[in-house]
Amino acid sequence: MATPLFLAPRLESRLTSLLDSPGFLHDLVSALGSPLNVVLPDQVAENLEQFRSVYRRHRLGGDIFFAHKANRSSSLVRRLAATPAAIDIASLGELQHALGSGFAPDRIMATGPKNPEFLWLAARSGITVNIDSRAELEELAALVGKFGLPRVRILLRLSSFEATGTTVLTRKSRFGTSVQELDSLLNAVESHRDTTELIGVAYHLDTIGLPEKAVALEGCIKVMNACHSRGLRPRVIDIGGGFGVNYLADGEQWERYTTELTNAVLGRRSPLTWQGHGYGLRSEGGTLRGALGLYPAHRPVAGPRYLDELLSLPAPSLGGRPLATLLLENLYDLYTEPGRALVDQCGLALAKVLEVRRTAAGDCFVRLEMNAGDVSLEEHGVLVDPVLVPRPGGAAATSDNDSGPVGVHLIGNLCLEADFITRRTVFLPRLPVPGDLLGFANTAGYFMDFSADHALHQPIARKVAAFEDAGSWRWCLDDQYWPNITTGEHI
Ligand SMILES: Cc1ncc(COP(=O)(O)O)c(C=O)c1O
Repeated sequence: MATPLFLAPRLESRLTSLLDSPGFLHDLVSALGSPLNVVLPDQVAENLEQFRSVYRRHRLGGDIFFAHKANRSSSLVRRLAATPAAIDIASLGELQHALGSGFAPDRIMATGPKNPEFLWLAARSGITVNIDSRAELEELAALVGKFGLPRVRILLRLSSFEATGTTVLTRKSRFGTSVQELDSLLNAVESHRDTTELIGVAYHLDTIGLPEKAVALEGCIKVMNACHSRGLRPRVIDIGGGFGVNYLADGEQWERYTTELTNAVLGRRSPLTWQGHGYGLRSEGGTLRGALGLYPAHRPVAGPRYLDELLSLPAPSLGGRPLATLLLENLYDLYTEPGRALVDQCGLALAKVLEVRRTAAGDCFVRLEMNAGDVSLEEHGVLVDPVLVPRPGGAAATSDNDSGPVGVHLIGNLCLEADFITRRTVFLPRLPVPGDLLGFANTAGYFMDFSADHALHQPIARKVAAFEDAGSWRWCLDDQYWPNITTGEHI
């Protein structure tokens, strides 16, 4: 076999300890079926603290809003409700869930596209609304006026910021109002002062580029100045989410993998994917074309560290002082909306191995009791190995499965050619046997329930909350979890 190309997941202590508990995990899957999602509510509280420490380091005030869309879990949201976190909700259902999980309205903000029911409950319950467009502002103002609802706190989501002097690539977005239309938007804000109160301006950029975000943050500071010169008194800048996660333990493995993937696309080595899929790369007459469409799975600067670096960047056209200093000097509060980064290390998706089959063509298929929608790593372009969790007391190693590292194709339980858990050849430390589990680690951010559906009437994963108690793991169904109560602290 070719040298294995591992992409070992980054595992911090909780996930390591969980994966080191095969008996616990196998019992869970035996009882609740495969696939099974495990979430770790205590980890999300710890992650929040790390974000808060960045605020403290820069002496900034303001709230950290968990972008709920990253995971539907009740236990994660309820655990956060028991911390100083706030929550960013993007649908009527998420708003109802947040309210029902213990978030008071002053800790909830609505972002994204909104229908009339969503706007009504937002206004009725008194949460903050992040306004996407002038039309949305008009709709909200009309609703508040017509039904005599309380005045709503609003932020204006802006987009299309332009760098002055330097050339920084800024992408188009379907969300937010272009800063070029700021004047007319502020006219509307002024005319709706009786129904809405402008508390700040916002952006969310779906990019990992720090320079692009620095341009947007600097742009927001300038917009705040424009608001103040008009007599408006916003005090918050909301810089959205997108702080990222480091999924891989070892940067060298990532470098080696992407180099070898390129070689495979160019035909210089054996394929590394099913049917030579190139993740955006292709060979044209021996020349490499296209662009690698993958998440940079090894990202040492991610999460709170990414926020720290962004805040420390100089504002090029505002005297070159750090962005955090400018926020502090103006007494502006900072809002952030981390989704993926706040649930870093908070989840594990488990799948049972159903069948291991070698074909005459030399491929090895490992069929899982799970499908590609149950763990949509591939959809998000995140390449990371699952962890093999052998069945305790399972079949003894045979000459076949004791042969050391092996490259396999992970296929799902749908009667569909395309149902590959990943199109990548995955290297495992040994060949699994039916009854073993594969654990996809760090899947709480978008992977475990965002795309799962009932295709072919296959069940979608149940979700459990796991927590440590006196050195051992305990669990309950996700929707049975209530902080302090479930964990017995109230006694
Ligand atoms: C408005 C808004 N805020 C926050 C987020 C969270 O982004 P991330 O999970 O990358 O932190 C998103 C993601 O789509 C978003 O649309």
